[in-house]
Formats: sequence, structure tokens, C-alpha cells
Amino acid sequence: MTSSLWSIVLAAGQGSRLVAATGGRRKQFLSFHGAPLYWRSVLTLGAVPAMRGIVVVFPEQDFDTHAAELRALAQRDVPGVPLFAVHGGTRRQDSVRHGLAAIPIGCDAVLVHDSARPFFSASLVHAMRTALCDGVHGVVPGCAVTDTVKEVADGVVRCTLDRTALTAVQTPQLFVTSALRAAHDRAVTADWNVTDDASMLELAGYAVRVVPGEAQNIKITTVEDLRMLAPASPQVLPCTGFGYDVHAYGGTRPMMLGGMPIAGAPLVQAHSDGDVLLHALCDALLGCLGQGDIGEHFPDSDQRFENISSGILVSEVLEKVRQRGLTITHVDLTVIAQVPRLSPHKAAIRSNVARLLELADEQVNLKATTEEHLGFTGRKEGIKAVAVVTALRTIS
Ligand code: CTP
Ligand code: MG
Repeated sequence: MTSSLWSIVLAAGQGSRLVAATGGRRKQFLSFHGAPLYWRSVLTLGAVPAMRGIVVVFPEQDFDTHAAELRALAQRDVPGVPLFAVHGGTRRQDSVRHGLAAIPIGCDAVLVHDSARPFFSASLVHAMRTALCDGVHGVVPGCAVTDTVKEVADGVVRCTLDRTALTAVQTPQLFVTSALRAAHDRAVTADWNVTDDASMLELAGYAVRVVPGEAQNIKITTVEDLRMLAPASPQVLPCTGFGYDVHAYGGTRPMMLGGMPIAGAPLVQAHSDGDVLLHALCDALLGCLGQGDIGEHFPDSDQRFENISSGILVSEVLEKVRQRGLTITHVDLTVIAQVPRLSPHKAAIRSNVARLLELADEQVNLKATTEEHLGFTGRKEGIKAVAVVTALRTIS
């Protein structure tokens, strides 16, 4: 393995194939996780333990802006290695040459990387370093070609290449620094035009080895590739809350159900207004929130809640629902009582609950039942209610 390793991150291209789709922004500067895209490559390379420094190559025309942003990002994220910015050239290979000129003399090996490939891993670099041994001057990641590849001229196929002999290569590419420098010098004198540095070494007669590339290590090139940079869509998870409440008859409070007075019904015992249905509803809402029960939020011992309208309790809980970013989708309510008879009141109660929750009537269902003269409701000693609330929680 090499001891002294540096990287050149190329960010000086024009991104001409994408510029129309990005509103004129060059792809290496598109925003990705709160930083320009090239920064992802800098951070991955900075995390390689042997890395001693990174040279980032920026376009000449707005060099100062990008160099200043690089310094700000380095202060924010601390990549752990020194960073240098240099001017790019006309062709990719010119940009690499400028980067090479900034690499210190004692550096044994250098990685050249296209910042348009943000998704490679630090372990790919590790595999490449292991492969850079005696007699090998360059290592590139490559993936088998899965399409059939044809040579075409003027729209006519000239021949079909043997796919089994083909490999699509990626960056980063790793080189013995002296070999890369020598190959670039030869490229200048012999006027070679190449699309990657490995080609230059091949032309100069150096051995280049291939290690398995990474499927996710694509180069952002087409409009379709831009989707890879879009933030992941937020996850929407359903949640359900259940509430249950009981009130005894024989008190002093006229009965309220769902915020509506129930004329002629038994009086109820309660600290608040005794609205058994809204209390069950509040508990179901708190259930969705994972925030305990109504007694914890509005204790009986607190004078402020003496005879308080339960509609106010609902609106306070609803505010907590909003703050949590929950969207209520449905409410199912059941009142269990031998008396009073609820059918004359059901439509009004349903509409009022919908209004309190800012829902449509169709999102609220109200049922009423007796317990067939059994138990305390059957003996007309009290009333109970249950509520189920369904909501959606958005996790971004
Ligand atoms: N590059 C560079 N200097 C150049 C040309 C390219 O640093 N003169 C960089 C690009 O920023 C990119 C990589 O080399 O990271 C080459 O990938 P490519 O997809 O060709 O990028 P662009 O040349 O920017 O795009 P296009 O070819 O569509 O103009
Ligand atoms: Mg290009």
C-alpha cells in the first residue's frame, strides 16, 4: 500500500449536457444535502485514513466565489485534511494537470476523481490502494457492461463488440504519482486527447489494473440522473389513538355530549363540564401524539379547569396535534348509555365534533348503543364513551 496519498477532485467542467435542465447551474455546484455536490466527494475522500490532502479544481471564470465557499465549508464540516483550490483548464485532462501541479513532491500516489460522481464509498478507495502493488501504476474501478455495444457510423452498425471483454470504468482512479506526471507530460508533447487518466497511462505503456466498481457510483450526466440528487420523499406513517371515559349520573352538571347540550338528560358528576364524549376524544388525540392522557394535561385538582368547556380542552389538544405535524384523517366515536336516547341528537353532535376538529362531517362517525340493561349504564347510573382517532404523521 502507498504511504502518502493525495486527491484531485475535478469540479471545473461546464456541465453542458445538463445546463438546460438546471437553470444554468453547473452540476458539480448543485445543492446536495446543504452543500454543493462536489463537497460530498471531498468528505468521502477526507475520511480515507491515508489521505494527506485534497486539491479541488474549480472553473476559472468564477474561481474566487468557489474557493471562498470551499473555505467556509471546510470550517463548517472539518474534512480532516488540508484543502487547496486551483484553476481548471479547457479539457478535463488540462484540469487534472493543473491539479497535479499543486500536489507536493513527496506524494507517492494520487487519486483523480470526477466530482460528478458523488456516490462512491471510502471502501472503494481501500480496495484500489490494496491493488496498487509492484508493477502496477494505475488502478481503476470498473463494472461489466450489461448492454450489447455496437460500433455505429452515420446511423449504421459497423460491428458488434464482444461484451465479455468490455468494462465501464469509473472514478476515483488511483495512480503512482510519478507515472501520472510522466503520462501527462507525454500527453502534452504528443497531443493526446483522452477522457480519463487511465487512458493516458495505457498510451504511455503503464500497467493499469481494474477492481470491481460500485453500481451506485454513477456520473450525474443526464436529466434522469438528477433524480438521484432530489431529497428523499418524506415518509408518511399512519397512527391511531384510543380514548375512553365515564361519568356518573346524579351530579349537578347538565349533560353535554360532543359540545352539545342534551336537554332532559340526567345530570352528571364532573369537575369540568362533564362532556364524556369530548373527554374520550381528547384522550384519543393524546394517544396519537403519544402524550399520555387528559388527566395529566388538565388535572381535576387545578381550579382553572373547574366547569371548563370541554371544547376548549379539545382545541388545546388540537394545537399540540398541529405542532407535531399530525393530520387527522378520521374519528370514530361511540356513546354507551341506557338513557338518554341519542338518535335525535346524533347529527348535531357529529357536526359539532367535526367543526371542533376542523374536519368534514364525513370524517367523523358517531354511534350510540345501550348495554342491554347490564352494568352501570344499564342501571342508568352513568354514561361512557370511546373514541378512536386515525392520523398521519409525516417524517422527513
Ligand atoms: N471537468 C473539469 N474540467 C474540465 C472538464 C471537466 O474539471 N475542463 C470535470 C467535471 O467537473 C466533471 C468531470 O471532470 O466532474 C467530467 O465529467 P463530465 O460528466 O464530462 O462533466 P462536464 O464536462 O462538466 O459535463 P459536460 O461534458 O456535459 O459538459
Ligand atoms: Mg465533459
